[in-house]
Amino acid sequence: MKKIKVPATSANVGPGFDCLGLALNIYDTFTIEQSDHDILHGTDPRYNNSDNLFLKAFHETCDMLKKDMHIEADFQCDIPVSRGLGSSAALIVGGAASAFVLNNMPIDKDIVFAIAREMEGHPDNAAPAVYGGLCASMEETTVQLPLSDNFHYTVYIPPFEVSTEEARRILPDSYPRNIAVKNTAHAILLVQALGSGNTELLEKAGIDSIHEPYRKTLIHGFDTIKELVTNDVRGIFLISGSGSTCLSITEHSISMDTEKKIAAMGWQVRHVNPTEGIAEVKE
Ligand code: HSE
Repeated sequence: MKKIKVPATSANVGPGFDCLGLALNIYDTFTIEQSDHDILHGTDPRYNNSDNLFLKAFHETCDMLKKDMHIEADFQCDIPVSRGLGSSAALIVGGAASAFVLNNMPIDKDIVFAIAREMEGHPDNAAPAVYGGLCASMEETTVQLPLSDNFHYTVYIPPFEVSTEEARRILPDSYPRNIAVKNTAHAILLVQALGSGNTELLEKAGIDSIHEPYRKTLIHGFDTIKELVTNDVRGIFLISGSGSTCLSITEHSISMDTEKKIAAMGWQVRHVNPTEGIAEVKE
């Protein structure tokens, strides 16, 4: 049996809508072996069928490699589903990478990224799930960007889901030029702040006008928790991907008092770190 693990990802990172993404150390782990038919263990019964994203990506990659193969996979999924932490991307990346691993080939990350980007329809979860760290992507091109270790990363996972389809549907089809200019400047300066560890620049740049104003209406408690966090520590508070999870990037860890108040609202608070992309786990 072989094992691979794929990290959670936080897409957009504020103003980097559909371009920026960050790998975080919450993982889905897949224990895999070749089989005479496809069998999945530990997956949500709703998704235990041939439409499962892991299986679809596995077979698409096998077809590309001209290998006819089936898989038995045991899912240990720590990435919450439909919460804006890249659970779909992790399944796709895990399935595509499994095709390489079961064929005793090194994981071709560029092929895994191409398949995941195509299946997802946007590259910002797929890129960090594959390559790790902070990635900026534009169609098939992706680059890893430097990250300062000055900042603390925390995710706030609410007790409800937000569907990515709905969170995309509520966005305007077009934006005025001043909004486009502002968001472009913010995305560029945010990348500089994350690389250099400059908190003042982080706070100025980490403001999004493309999706947050619309999507926060789907996240009950967003304004309250944002205020609690940003009154407690210097830094930024964002929607992770299309939500419902939120992410803070801060100079210091949030206080126990703030954490308790947020937990009392039913949200789970997890302290996380940027991490590597997909890897085979050698035991
Ligand atoms: N960039 C995508 C969005 C990520 O915000 O819709 C979805 O996970």
